[in-house]
Amino acid sequence: MNHLIAPSLLAADFSKMESQIEIINKSEADWLHLDIMDGVFVPNISFGLPIIKSLRPHIDKPFDVHLMIVEPDKYITDFKNAGADLLNVHYEACTHLHRTIDAIKKEGMQAGVTLNPHTPIFLLEEIIKEVDLVLLMSVNPGFGGQKFIENTFKKLSELRNLIEKKGSRALIQVDGGVTIANAQQLINAGADVLVAGSAVFNAPNPIQAVKELKHFLPEPPLSAIK
Ligand code: DX5
Ligand code: ZN
Repeated sequence: MNHLIAPSLLAADFSKMESQIEIINKSEADWLHLDIMDGVFVPNISFGLPIIKSLRPHIDKPFDVHLMIVEPDKYITDFKNAGADLLNVHYEACTHLHRTIDAIKKEGMQAGVTLNPHTPIFLLEEIIKEVDLVLLMSVNPGFGGQKFIENTFKKLSELRNLIEKKGSRALIQVDGGVTIANAQQLINAGADVLVAGSAVFNAPNPIQAVKELKHFLPEPPLSAIK
């Protein structure tokens, strides 16, 4: 499948919401990534349900909601009602992950599980067939604009193997430090969905930045490399 691009609203200019909405709608973005931070699970607070609810009628793309909160089970129905299409919960925040994934799906949303950089892939063995997406954090969650952690490439290949071994249909999403410089390498390594905050909204032309993330040039054939 062609890879998907999910710009992260966290890096947008909140004083110019109308123009940011226009950028999202006019660009080739496939999804909108919404980072919800509670100041407990991560050392930062972002935005919450009212923002998602007020944006929903103005954006015609799926809402990919990344919950960086403790006790996500309490808010599953609220995020559904606010307009989430896909709900990502952190492995590290869920004591009863199977129950949480089930509850998300029962609400009619796609269910994603997110791994922090230190959390190994093998912990997903018993849940991989139940989830629609696995989000690999390629920075420590909490802030935009951080440097990409190179070990993500190793985790990408382990996750790809696990998905194949178990016959799972989960998509692989990568979030944090994604740029036009590493996008192609991430897709070649097995990513299906790239989240990009600063690489989109801090670019001089965000619509063009999405285009570049979406249609990077294919790798040159080996014969062309001197
Ligand atoms: C970090 C968030 C990311 C963040 C990515 O906790 O989950 O989605 O917005 O920002 P960049 O692309 O700037 O690293
Ligand atoms: Zn995120």
